[in-house]
Amino acid sequence: MTNLALNQYRDRLNAEKQRLSHTHMCDMFESDPDRFNNMSIENDGVIFDYSKNRLDAQSLSVLAEMAKAGGLAEMRSAMFAGDKINTTENRAVLHTALRNPSEKPIMVDGKDIMQDIHAELSRMAKFASSVRDGSYLVSGGKVTDVVNIGIGGSDLGPRMATQSLREFNDGPKLHFVANSDATDLDDIVERLDPKTTLFIVASKSFTTAETMLNAANAKQWVEESLGDEAGRHFCALSTNLEATQAFGIENERTFGFWDWVGGRYSIWSAIGLSLMISIGPERFREFLNGAHSADQHFMNAPFEKNIPIVMGLIGIWYRNVWGFPVQAVMPYDSRMSRFPAWLQQLDMESNGKSVLKSGEQTELDTGPIIFGEVGTNGQHAFYQLLHQGTTIIPCDFLIAATGYGRQRNRDVLLSNCFAQSEALMDGRTLEQADNNPHRVFEGNRPSNTFLFKRVTPHSLGMLMAFYEHKVFVQGVLWGINSFDQWGVELGKELLPTIEPMLDVNSKAIATNGSTKGLLKALHQFKQS
Ligand code: F6P
Repeated sequence: MTNLALNQYRDRLNAEKQRLSHTHMCDMFESDPDRFNNMSIENDGVIFDYSKNRLDAQSLSVLAEMAKAGGLAEMRSAMFAGDKINTTENRAVLHTALRNPSEKPIMVDGKDIMQDIHAELSRMAKFASSVRDGSYLVSGGKVTDVVNIGIGGSDLGPRMATQSLREFNDGPKLHFVANSDATDLDDIVERLDPKTTLFIVASKSFTTAETMLNAANAKQWVEESLGDEAGRHFCALSTNLEATQAFGIENERTFGFWDWVGGRYSIWSAIGLSLMISIGPERFREFLNGAHSADQHFMNAPFEKNIPIVMGLIGIWYRNVWGFPVQAVMPYDSRMSRFPAWLQQLDMESNGKSVLKSGEQTELDTGPIIFGEVGTNGQHAFYQLLHQGTTIIPCDFLIAATGYGRQRNRDVLLSNCFAQSEALMDGRTLEQADNNPHRVFEGNRPSNTFLFKRVTPHSLGMLMAFYEHKVFVQGVLWGINSFDQWGVELGKELLPTIEPMLDVNSKAIATNGSTKGLLKALHQFKQS
């Protein structure tokens, strides 16, 4: 058995589960009238309520002890200090430095990265301001529309944040293209004028197939109407300067970042340019400050009062001790509809691993399956299963006290959100259901709730960083490397072999029996 603290604490944690397994959460509230206060944490205007969980102070303290024994504090310091904790790629993990307003040096390979970060942020701010105020001129004058072309971390974070912060969009209109399906780009550009459109090609590697294909198609679309003037309609966000130059984007319109920024953690870097153009550099700084506030809290708050640590421990409690494999996330805010998709990449690409840092196979379950939908839409889709299904799915609810439209609508959202978590917890007995078993809710189903005043750059930045650190906490305690993504490689590697076989005249034969059958059928479709 591997030497993980989680393994060493297995018996104690199982005993805790045993102790609580016949206690309903409602009884826990009854025996501790102060349970909400004891089991909620506030940081900088964001409240994290974790009182609706199958957890009490004693079980949380065993989990916290396990986390201490598992070296969480040491790993946390190592990450912030720039140690190369991404061991399979021999890289530091420093997205926290990107949002640090301080000039205090952080050294990577003998170089102070803080100077580079601030210098690049200033370049971005200058460019973003010039696009926003119209002093950056393209063929048709002022830029009216900006299209971010990227995928994965070069799309999900910027797209989700830009959409969530739409209220603050006082610059050009933002659009996002990710998929290699031609319609993803075509459906957007059909409404745009190439003369006033700026494309941002966002790709850390600048080799990602979908992004390169879309960028080439966008270039063709602009060149068809503007010829030689197309150049000013493109800028790039990448760590690969050679490739951006080869694509024809000048260095002055290329914004860089570094190998110690993981793709799914890159919105705080140049990858955030689309968001910065949308909301302006000052609000982008507020977004970074919100995340920095979460960083400070994560670094300094005691384990049991530390939002991302408690989130991570509750997740481990359910995944490894109670055996719940799924985690749902429901933002009650229409504009935050991409939050679950953003979280899916963050969590599942980081912790969907079965090999430990040591190279051994893990004996424990790791990253949960994440899914979700905005409230109240999800209520009319899959909440049936959340309430009465045979799989217990812990839920995270996120909601702001005030919205940007009519407050009456917000109150409807708020009451729905509270009603759902209450129903999950309280349930309904057979007696209360007039002896109708179909109307019984067993209840005792866990959830966390984030409540904050408004969706602002600051609060959104903070929430995102809390989730990033929650993922980190779990990765450390599972003994895996949360910062590589080898699992996405194999499919990519097979592409060059398969693509030529799509040609009906191809003589190549697939080795996989199913692919062979599918190709045969495909060729028939193509010829019919
Ligand atoms: O899907 C794998 C991945 O490498 C992600 O980790 C990354 O966010 C995405 O592809 C896009 O990569 P890039 O920014 O290099 O185009």
